[in-house]
Amino acid sequence: MNPSQNSIKESLSFVHPPRNWMNPPRNWINESWNWMNPPQNWINESWNWMNPPRNWINESLNWMNPPRNWINESLILVNKHKNSAPHSPTFPGKSMSKNNSVLGAKRRSLWQLALEGVLDGGPSTCQFAITSVCNARCGFCNFAVDKMPIDERHSVTLEQAKQAAEILYRNGVYFLIYVGGEPMAHPHLNEMIAHASSIGMAPMLVTNGSLLTPKRIDELADAGLMSVIISIDAAEVEKHEQNRGLKGVCDRIRDANIHFQRRHISTTASVTMSRLIDDYHQLPPFLKSLGFDSVTFSYPLTTLASSYLGYAESNLVDYTAEELHERFDTLKALKQDFPVVNPTASIEDMQRHLRGEPEQFGCLGGWKLFYLDWHLNLYRCHNWDKPMCHITEFDSSQRVRDGCTACMIDCYRDSSVMQHIGVSVSDGVQALTKGKLKQAWKYWFNHNNLVSLKAVWEQATWLRRL
Ligand SMILES: C[S@@+](CC[C@H](N)C(=O)[O-])C[C@H]1O[C@@H](n2cnc3c(N)ncnc32)[C@H](O)[C@@H]1O
Ligand code: SF4
Ligand code: SF4
Repeated sequence: MNPSQNSIKESLSFVHPPRNWMNPPRNWINESWNWMNPPQNWINESWNWMNPPRNWINESLNWMNPPRNWINESLILVNKHKNSAPHSPTFPGKSMSKNNSVLGAKRRSLWQLALEGVLDGGPSTCQFAITSVCNARCGFCNFAVDKMPIDERHSVTLEQAKQAAEILYRNGVYFLIYVGGEPMAHPHLNEMIAHASSIGMAPMLVTNGSLLTPKRIDELADAGLMSVIISIDAAEVEKHEQNRGLKGVCDRIRDANIHFQRRHISTTASVTMSRLIDDYHQLPPFLKSLGFDSVTFSYPLTTLASSYLGYAESNLVDYTAEELHERFDTLKALKQDFPVVNPTASIEDMQRHLRGEPEQFGCLGGWKLFYLDWHLNLYRCHNWDKPMCHITEFDSSQRVRDGCTACMIDCYRDSSVMQHIGVSVSDGVQALTKGKLKQAWKYWFNHNNLVSLKAVWEQATWLRRL
């Protein structure tokens, strides 16, 4: 590390975070704990690849006939891309301020995202764990309030979060997913989301739902939140609330779903595959009763090498390979009953992983997907033992692309399957610009691209909500 980088670090007080963050103000802790004073349903747009809904032909035509202004926008983008730095997306409506932050940018359309896919493999995603503080006691998670020592609790400051978002944006990150710990326990989450949205990012949130009051939802919506993932651990109220140590949280989630729907913000249930679920077919009616119309599954984790603590050596998630393989079969079958976001191709790759067979898709962790922690260390993923760099040093040169298949973390492996097609198309375009026609052809025409495209189709309804 050179001296100038050191001085940036020091000026950020990264090494010595402000004291009030180590010892959060009392009223904040009280508010976090005070969630228990609580003040339906989505249309099921089930997408089934094998049994397409009636409006499939119309939808396909929509895809084939992009909006009229798309061609114009594409031309502008292609011209701008030629002059821009690698991984520095340029979009109409964006302007740069003197300090190089990006102000007043517009949220990208589906067509802009598709074109960016052709040029650079598509937008990147970063999971930003803004705090390690949590108000819950989940049996399978080491962030739990009863497991995490008080002196190990850390959070980013608002200024650090804003600077991090701007650096990520300049390096091609579009989807910024706020996680924790419990991200809603951070007193400046609204401002972080408002800032990320104002510079043109698509902010998302993963939460246990316990702090989602109508007032907070309005604030998050006004700030520009795009989409929310709410965790559910079981197919019954009592089991879920007992595992979380959050009595009454299911009522709060039900109310929150109604309120998010009013504000046109999509929500998805996130269910960790654990022994709290005896029968996966009981999940759809329960999730519907809470107001969800889609679910994504977290593949069970008993260990992680990075600073992230969303794992535990708990019997709840400690499966044999055979047990887990069988549960993945159940997930595939569940797709007949309820929209499951995890692509079938990814589930099947996880099954290959369990059988010790070569996998079809390499992971894009470190290339298109990243993890940033509360110390502002940027990792390629939740499972990498060493950070790529501190966020203030990130300039894309640290990115890694090695087709890793070391682990089974759904958020990296699922996204990699869906983004594979974008990366292949852009690889082909780049080969073509170097006159390597045969190589371009190989990138474009191969079986994995078809499988990836099918995974995108499979999730078309869900992706369109983003
Ligand atoms: C660590 S939490 C952070 C966000 C928020 N506190 C929440 O619970 O949604 C993110 C996700 O990780 C999941 N998770 C926690 N422990 C896990 C484990 N051992 N294996 C797989 N997923 C886990 C949670 O259920 C949650 O959906
Ligand atoms: S899963 Fe989320 S809510 Fe539960 S302990 Fe972990 S961080 Fe907290
Ligand atoms: S496969 Fe696992 S360890 Fe490898 S880059 Fe992806 S998330 Fe990280």
